[in-house]
Amino acid sequence: MKWTPSTVLRKKVWAEGLFTLTVSSPEVLPFHPGQFLHLAVVEDEERTNRPYSVASPHGDELDFFVVLVEEGKLTPKLWALDVGDALEVSEKATGSFTLEKTPDAKHLWLIATGTGLAPYIAMLRTSEPWSRYEKIVVVHGVRHHTDLAYQDELAAYRGTYGKQFEYVPVLSRDESPDALFGRIPQCMESGTLEETADCELSKNDSAVMLCGNPAMLDEMESKLGNREMVKHRKKKPGQIVIERYW
Ligand SMILES: Cc1cc2nc3c(=O)[nH]c(=O)nc-3n(C[C@H](O)[C@H](O)[C@H](O)COP(=O)(O)OP(=O)(O)OC[C@H]3O[C@@H](n4cnc5c(N)ncnc54)[C@H](O)[C@@H]3O)c2cc1C
Ligand SMILES: NC(=O)c1ccc[n+]([C@@H]2O[C@H](COP(=O)([O-])OP(=O)(O)OC[C@H]3O[C@@H](n4cnc5c(N)ncnc54)[C@H](OP(=O)(O)O)[C@@H]3O)[C@@H](O)[C@H]2O)c1
Repeated sequence: MKWTPSTVLRKKVWAEGLFTLTVSSPEVLPFHPGQFLHLAVVEDEERTNRPYSVASPHGDELDFFVVLVEEGKLTPKLWALDVGDALEVSEKATGSFTLEKTPDAKHLWLIATGTGLAPYIAMLRTSEPWSRYEKIVVVHGVRHHTDLAYQDELAAYRGTYGKQFEYVPVLSRDESPDALFGRIPQCMESGTLEETADCELSKNDSAVMLCGNPAMLDEMESKLGNREMVKHRKKKPGQIVIERYW
């Protein structure tokens, strides 16, 4: 892997341990929104690195939306970074979790848990989803209300695009009048997800992107399978595109 020198420009803390690093990485090559890069911290000549979805489109400044895994190897080092600190970013992004690899449909469902929201933020900041889909629904499942990062940006899309955009937060450990309670697959089964989004999640009308906790991905794939929805492949078109974080 080729590494490029980078610097932290901003650190936005959404909640303790949940943060977005904006990094100056001018040597990173152009990529598609939804792709991922590797971040590395070098200490005592030892490089620790992990893959991260880029939470912004390509540019001189790149955003990464990260959660601190306390017992993890890299995230405690990323959490400790501050404005002006150095890190390394891989030069070339990879991954096929992109709109280019997602089928056309009337409705685009962007479903995430935790930091799985990152690739969708990158996509929503470009014109492509808005010109390709009649309706875009972002479903964000987190533990607590304070983990609902990017709420202002998501609310602004509603302001700009009106009913073309729906945002459905789902809280598993807090109850709140502005969010569904429980886990995403259960909300889909009970019908509250589609009711709140005012949008059908069906084989004929929908393309579905899933990103984040692997248990959520597996459960959603299985439950969408009950609606005859399957993974999208070049040779065998379907409706579902998946990014697995661990
Ligand atoms: C394609 C891809 C894109 C990724 N994009 C992001 C991203 O945008 N933001 C991000 O925070 N992470 C992302 N990850 C996960 C990231 O690569 C690291 O695994 C994570 O940051 C933990 O690193 P660590 O060294 O601190 O922990 P490790 O020592 O590697 O421990 C890993 C353990 O931490 C937990 N874990 C890992 N990632 C997460 C997470 N995001 N949320 C909750 N628990 C987690 C799991 O239990 C996992 O087994 C992505 C992973 C992949 C494969
Ligand atoms: N503010 C933060 O988010 C924060 C801050 C600091 C550190 N951390 C640490 O970061 C790690 C990850 O935390 P996280 O909350 O970001 O990620 P997470 O554990 O993946 O949880 C995110 C959401 O996914 C849900 N989920 C889990 N399994 C699911 C399934 N099978 N189907 C559908 N939904 C499912 C969780 O519900 P349940 O609640 O029911 O599991 C939760 O609502 C943990 O080690 C945590 O301690 C988090």
